[in-house]
Amino acid sequence: MALHRDTQREIAAAVELLRAGQLVAFPTETVYGLGANADDPKAVRKIFALKGRPVTHPVIVHVLGAESFQRWARDAPLEAQQLAEAFWPGPLTLVMRRGPAVHDAVTGGQDTVALRAPSHPVARQLLTAFGSGIAAPSANRFGHVSPTRAEHVIEEFGDKVKLVLDGGECQIGLESTIVSCVGSTPRLLRPGSITLSQLRAVTPSILTGPDPDAPRAPGTIPRHYSPDTPVSLVPSRRLVDAMREFTDREEKVAVLAQRPPSTANRFMTWINAGSRPAQYAHNLYANLRTLDKAGAKVILAEEVPDGEQWDAARDRLKRAASRERALRYDGELAALPAGADDEGDLP
Ligand code: TXA
Ligand code: MG
Repeated sequence: MALHRDTQREIAAAVELLRAGQLVAFPTETVYGLGANADDPKAVRKIFALKGRPVTHPVIVHVLGAESFQRWARDAPLEAQQLAEAFWPGPLTLVMRRGPAVHDAVTGGQDTVALRAPSHPVARQLLTAFGSGIAAPSANRFGHVSPTRAEHVIEEFGDKVKLVLDGGECQIGLESTIVSCVGSTPRLLRPGSITLSQLRAVTPSILTGPDPDAPRAPGTIPRHYSPDTPVSLVPSRRLVDAMREFTDREEKVAVLAQRPPSTANRFMTWINAGSRPAQYAHNLYANLRTLDKAGAKVILAEEVPDGEQWDAARDRLKRAASRERALRYDGELAALPAGADDEGDLP
């Protein structure tokens, strides 16, 4: 099949670039990654330069499976083995003590490393052909909306990335669930499509919530996943009033809702993202990108329901809305206090 041949050729070209110390963007089932040879610190540093990401923020090493623990981790605890067995390949990242040969450029100088075995066939072909670990954060500018289509990567970086492997739309659409297996008890660091109860069905002891001793996970800093247009989270029952505040003043407003609009208005761009969490997550970043282009003053995002199926989407929305110049709707629109914007390291 021609398509197959082309993919093979592109994979071969990607491997060549990786070996030459260049960056390659590739699809995963969560979001697109911006990859470099994890054994080449100079190449890994190019990721940080291109993304505008502080060098202390570690990147995930993508691998084929748990046999890679030997190479990249040390003292991998039983829980990590169990979780990998249950969820790999798939949207789970495991943080462990790093192996002696892992570069500081990858770990941000920390004593831990994050490993993930993606399930996307193109990512797996690339990893197989490359034969070693690929360090990759999401392929977006730092703090920006993650890419779920090859075109999004090009929107982010133009021709600064030499090769984008096109694997179509990412199936899940939100970044992997991250679990730290460092320390006495495993802990959920970032919610993703694998829920806490799914994790606990395998490893009942997993904790959640902030841990003062936890390794830094800069994806968990407040301002992240943000479009350029300010995002404001609005409770369901106030959505229409909040929208009207703008349209009444003949100001453009964008709305990300879970239902259709009740009226049409030329100052309003409304996306009905639906009420099913998996579909909502799948489309979230593409929807934010679309609404960002509406030329609106603000994107009003309807709050998502309670329940762990919505945890990952709720987390990303909250971070997208958390920025200095974001507007907050609570009866009136008010600027958030200065200092709410924090792209730096966690304390
Ligand atoms: O789904 C995903 O995880 C995607 C795809 C491309 O695999 N990758 C991704 O990478 O979301 P990134 O860099 O955008 O987010 C990875 C998060 C960051 O918050 C990073 O700080 C954290 O993982 N991380 C990486 N290494 C870590 C470590 N050793 N300890 C704690 N957190 C770590
Ligand atoms: Mg990211």
